[in-house]
Amino acid sequence: MTETSTTPVTILGLGAMGRALASTFRAAGLPTTVWNRSPGKAADLIAAGATSAPTVEQAIGPGGPIIAVLLDHASVHATLDPVADQMTGRQLINLTSTAPAESRELAAWAAAHGIDYLDGGIMAVPSMIGAPGAAILYSGSRQVFETRRGILELLAAAEYFGDDAGFASTYDFALLATMYAMFGGFLHGAALMRSVGVSAAEFGQRAAAWVTAMTQSLPHQGRVIDTGDYTDPVQSIAFHKSAIDAINRASHDAGIASDFVAPLRTLLDRQVADGHGALGFERTFEELH
Ligand SMILES: NC(=O)c1ccc[n+]([C@@H]2O[C@H](COP(=O)([O-])OP(=O)(O)OC[C@H]3O[C@@H](n4cnc5c(N)ncnc54)[C@H](OP(=O)(O)O)[C@@H]3O)[C@@H](O)[C@H]2O)c1
Repeated sequence: MTETSTTPVTILGLGAMGRALASTFRAAGLPTTVWNRSPGKAADLIAAGATSAPTVEQAIGPGGPIIAVLLDHASVHATLDPVADQMTGRQLINLTSTAPAESRELAAWAAAHGIDYLDGGIMAVPSMIGAPGAAILYSGSRQVFETRRGILELLAAAEYFGDDAGFASTYDFALLATMYAMFGGFLHGAALMRSVGVSAAEFGQRAAAWVTAMTQSLPHQGRVIDTGDYTDPVQSIAFHKSAIDAINRASHDAGIASDFVAPLRTLLDRQVADGHGALGFERTFEELH
């Protein structure tokens, strides 16, 4: 079975992301039914041709895939538990950010109710939905992914990672962990630059170019980690400890808290103390287990 632009879709949750998904479906002409816990968020979607349902039960009535894009795991259960029996035989696509164990729990809950469950991790902000650069990672029901791939690709590039419903979420959070460390480093750098009169906006321009250049080394670092051989470093742990110590002194002198730098400093100090200073920076990965 493949869907066409006549496939009805239901969106549960009209936060910033749910609204972006619903308006993209409407722009593609899909019959779109929306529901939100708090009323009053559907006016522009109704104007664009969506149907606003006053209850979850009515929202899932049209019969197509049900897409949940709610705040968290608890809000998915709060919304869907009361209608679980009406969802038997239906397809549920959960795009709510849930931790891997929560995604697996929802898959088991869905299976117990005869619901076909696909989990997704959205690698985009709302303004990116429907545009190049957005991606959504999926795992769980292959049947749901394959039958609904056409409409899912209206939202973002769609990639499927197998039947473990927690896999996409793991990938989502691994990418977010990478992003948050980068954002935290940027905030630290912006604070340092303000101490010498450079605006955060100006620093942002330069930091973007620097981070873009530095990220080119990530695949190489990944290969080193996979071999587990850290004996031929580009730069050693001792070298990086020296740099981090200098950043720490510079931050102290500028009156800036070192909270973003401290965790890495701790990991490097520990490895030098344990005699690993000559090994490659990538060995820090081993300290995380
Ligand atoms: N925004 C992003 O950039 C982004 C990117 C990737 C992934 N995501 C994920 O997408 C999901 C939605 O994000 P968002 O940006 O749309 O968030 P949001 O703007 O904060 O909206 C949250 C939505 O969840 C609903 N909700 C909260 N608690 C609820 C409950 N107990 N029962 C029923 N509904 C409840 C809210 O309804 P009310 O209006 O009634 O409060 C609202 O519709 C999140 O899991 C988020 O992590 C977002």
